[in-house]
Amino acid sequence: MDKLLITGGAALRGQVPASGSKNAALPILAATLLADAPVTLGNIPHLRDITTTLELLGRMGACLTLQDDMGVEVQPRPLKSFAAPYELVKTMRASILVLGPLLARYGRADVSLPGGCAIGARPVNLHIQGLRAMGAEIGVEAGYIRARAQRLRGARLVMDTVSVTGTENLLMAATLAEGETLIENAAREPEVVDLADFLSALGARIEGAGTDRIHVQGVDGLGGASYRVMPDRIETGTFLVAAAMTGGRVTVRQTRADCLDAVIHKLREAGAEIDVDANSITLDMQGRRPRAVDIHTAPYPAFPTDMQAQFCALNCIAEGVGTLTETIFENRFMHVPELQRMGADIRIEGNVAICRGVERLTAAPVMATDLRASAGLVLAGLAASGDTLVDRVYHLDRGYDSIEEKLAALGAGIRRIPGRSGSLTTTP
Ligand code: EPZ
Repeated sequence: MDKLLITGGAALRGQVPASGSKNAALPILAATLLADAPVTLGNIPHLRDITTTLELLGRMGACLTLQDDMGVEVQPRPLKSFAAPYELVKTMRASILVLGPLLARYGRADVSLPGGCAIGARPVNLHIQGLRAMGAEIGVEAGYIRARAQRLRGARLVMDTVSVTGTENLLMAATLAEGETLIENAAREPEVVDLADFLSALGARIEGAGTDRIHVQGVDGLGGASYRVMPDRIETGTFLVAAAMTGGRVTVRQTRADCLDAVIHKLREAGAEIDVDANSITLDMQGRRPRAVDIHTAPYPAFPTDMQAQFCALNCIAEGVGTLTETIFENRFMHVPELQRMGADIRIEGNVAICRGVERLTAAPVMATDLRASAGLVLAGLAASGDTLVDRVYHLDRGYDSIEEKLAALGAGIRRIPGRSGSLTTTP
């Protein structure tokens, strides 16, 4: 398993490009199953989860061509399989996103239950309930979701909980259902809007994406399109926090500030000077130590749970006491014990982590447990004194495109130590 060796203490300076959004590219790639004509996608990030998705679609019989400029071409052709096998789904839960498109276009899908992961139980009951309400016959047996439908029917779907991929699955299914679908209590994340914009480019009739009520008028078929995936707002936020923690000045290019309001607000509260323009964000914290901030995660547009671990690392070296309240997942503090090994003063009370900032963390060997926890540990290493060794960085590779190259280009002391081949990969 590869490791990252981080020599802390450098103030990050310079410019870094954001890659395409993992959490927009995954549903958009699944949505190509709905298209009757060729699709060209741009700004697809080079990530393990993307590779897994391309492998899954390829195994079904989709004809995908990777282009060298982070593009993917999809030629529609009849599928030879409608299954998402456990061996792939266990490495990437988001494989569940093929369920809606397969049912809508082909009337059948056999998708492995994703199962839980490090951060929580991660049920998919809302996906199943919604598709059943649209007329699908769904059985769950031997770890698989076996779904069949003549033609899905539009329905009024009320989501008990705001679910990003739940909304995305039902939105994709509704595009080819007969009649109208209304998704109430829909997720408002920018990645849902990016998916809706892609589906509309294919010819889908969608209104209200980005609000908690999405209305879809089903159509008989969808064409092709060329579409560029939005930039990754969580990668962007991660680099901004890195700059804030190291007292640097960093500009993230090829990104969007309009989907990071809650994060930018908290970084300003921590004392950062932030300037934004059409497609870049500059954070300046030169010569200053961050002030601790209180974070409360919740569905968009509130503070994103995917930035909680990064702000936990920031609070560990900030001035004062900051609290982090995690309301989305039941076990998303796996980074805390590792940060404590680096000298962080954190205690957990239920779903709240209380951090009392220390002047400086001390480097230590630490272990990544999930994607965003590993990002938090990398940030802690950048601000610590000494050499931090982060193990199991395959978690990081699932969601960050060339993170060590990008950080090194900003002046970070970081390099990858290749492990033996055949490293294990597991969800989340
Ligand atoms: C998406 O996961 C993201 N993944 C996650 O990012 C992100 O943390 C999460 O949304 C919340 O923003 C992708 O988009 C691929 P949910 P998702 O369904 O859709 C409960 C990362 O780091 N729930 O919005 O799986 C669930 O238990 C990843 O990039 C049900 O109860 O999350 C949770 O408490 C991690 N039943 C809450 O809803 C369901 O059927 C929100 O989960 C579905 C969800």
